[in-house]
Amino acid sequence: MYALGGFALVIMLRKLQMRLQLSRAKHRSLTGHSRMARRFASLVPFYEYDEALFFRVDAAPDDIAAARRAGFVRLAGIFAERFEKTADLTGEIAHSVSDLEFTSRYRVPFQFSGFVRQHFKPGAFVESSSGVTVTDLDGNRLYDLTGSYGVNVFGYDFYKECIEQGAKRVRGLGPVLGAYHPVTAYNVRRLLQISGLEEISFHMSGTEAVMQAVRLARYHTGRTHLVRFCGAYHGWWGDVQPGVGNPLAARETYTLKDVDEVSLRVLRNRRDIACVLVNPLQALHPNVSAPGDSTLIDSGRKAHFDRDAYTAWLKQLREVCSARGIALIFDEVFVGFRLGIGGAQEYFGVRADLVTYGKTVAGGLPVGVLCGLAKFMRRFREDRPADICFARGTFNSHPYVMGAMYEFLGQLETDAVRGLYRGLDEVWNTRAQALNARLAAAELPVRVANLSSIWTIYYPTPSRYNWMFQYYLRAAGLSLSWVGTGRLIFSLNYTDADFAEVADRILSAAEGMQRDGWWWTEPHLTNMSIRRRVFKEMIQARWTPPPAASPMGSISSPRIK
Ligand SMILES: Cc1ncc(COP(=O)(O)O)c(C=O)c1O
Repeated sequence: MYALGGFALVIMLRKLQMRLQLSRAKHRSLTGHSRMARRFASLVPFYEYDEALFFRVDAAPDDIAAARRAGFVRLAGIFAERFEKTADLTGEIAHSVSDLEFTSRYRVPFQFSGFVRQHFKPGAFVESSSGVTVTDLDGNRLYDLTGSYGVNVFGYDFYKECIEQGAKRVRGLGPVLGAYHPVTAYNVRRLLQISGLEEISFHMSGTEAVMQAVRLARYHTGRTHLVRFCGAYHGWWGDVQPGVGNPLAARETYTLKDVDEVSLRVLRNRRDIACVLVNPLQALHPNVSAPGDSTLIDSGRKAHFDRDAYTAWLKQLREVCSARGIALIFDEVFVGFRLGIGGAQEYFGVRADLVTYGKTVAGGLPVGVLCGLAKFMRRFREDRPADICFARGTFNSHPYVMGAMYEFLGQLETDAVRGLYRGLDEVWNTRAQALNARLAAAELPVRVANLSSIWTIYYPTPSRYNWMFQYYLRAAGLSLSWVGTGRLIFSLNYTDADFAEVADRILSAAEGMQRDGWWWTEPHLTNMSIRRRVFKEMIQARWTPPPAASPMGSISSPRIK
């Protein structure tokens, strides 16, 4: 009896220890606590600054608020004149396209968003692309820093050619599905060579490729949980997006601290982990979500890429995954073919069991690819014929996608394209350093950090208004995606002259923003004090009526009106 009690106690203590270990391996931020983050998000009330407060939420003096207002009015005038046709057509569909409705609302922090949307209508249409530029409906040629979500590695003209030549190649077959066009055989061969893996499956998006990788890992290990690292994006499927954005909690996902020994301990000790998902882009900002200007309420955004430290981390992960029979999945949907032809595996010198690709690999057409070791990729068991792992997808291996992919992969073998990868990091690091040196010399509170051609802008001085910078950049002829200054993605066909032009424009935009007073700051302002103030506003908006309008302005909340 005593022996049984003792045994039960040991098991309980062991469970408690594992639970504590798991808690310690969560990043201390809300991003590291998915459930708490979802709960917190559901409590944040809507409120917004009225016009007076909009320009002086940091208690700026009258002359600064006036300079900001004048700058805002001038910039709004430029937008209205320069982007008129583009904005008009956007207005026609703005409330009918869910994606557009969402992205236009979340370009800047919600407290400022309504007023900004009234006055700045950047427009969602472009008519053509050429070189490193896109042209909108008003004929404005803008330098493209969106990189089309990362698809555009080699320049838009390259992809136009892939799509055109690919279409010619497969035209005879047309949209026949189920059977493969012969170009698919080359694609399979090349992708397995490049990934160094044994089997492949084609999907319609990166999200689906990741979904299949995780499903297979669960099938082959017989374990339930996937591990992802705090902040990492792996598409919008529920299990890989357990926090804000997903209406359901993901029950079989552990979100652990990135680049941290405590997470290795969890991997070593738990028996329910099927796979570890790594998005190597996180090397630029471990434990932080993809940066977007909608959350830029202060200057807390930080980024810094340390190649050696991240390489050492991946090697440790590789070791523990091999020792524990956990599938190591590199999600290279973003960085694949961007860091090098062999992607993150080659760049960091670490091999994964399963690798996902997407974005650029189909020469500009939609795709997801999963490559893996045969032992993880099989969808059946020789000795248990009814125990299968099902996966389909109507449009997988679509002939036109395979055709454009064939052209893309073929181009990778040419000297011209191989040349683009030579000294790649040096090129982009030198450009980033030179730009930072110019920004520092001009005493502008803006810096860039980069992982090769993937950049982010950060702000070294505490401010409430950094999100305004995206509008100055746009007025300077730079096209950013809806996440604003959080992510700039360059294509590798940016020449030194193109880049010099972009750098000049970033500088002149920052000078304009400085001149208009947005970066005025009282001496003792800190990021922490900004966050505290915003938190107080949220509490005020939720539980107390808004204060009467004062000369300084007020917040207003529709809930409590
Ligand atoms: C690392 C990573 N994985 C998966 C995805 C999802 O790919 P898709 O948007 O094609 O579904 C993305 C998209 O940005 C990504 O960056």
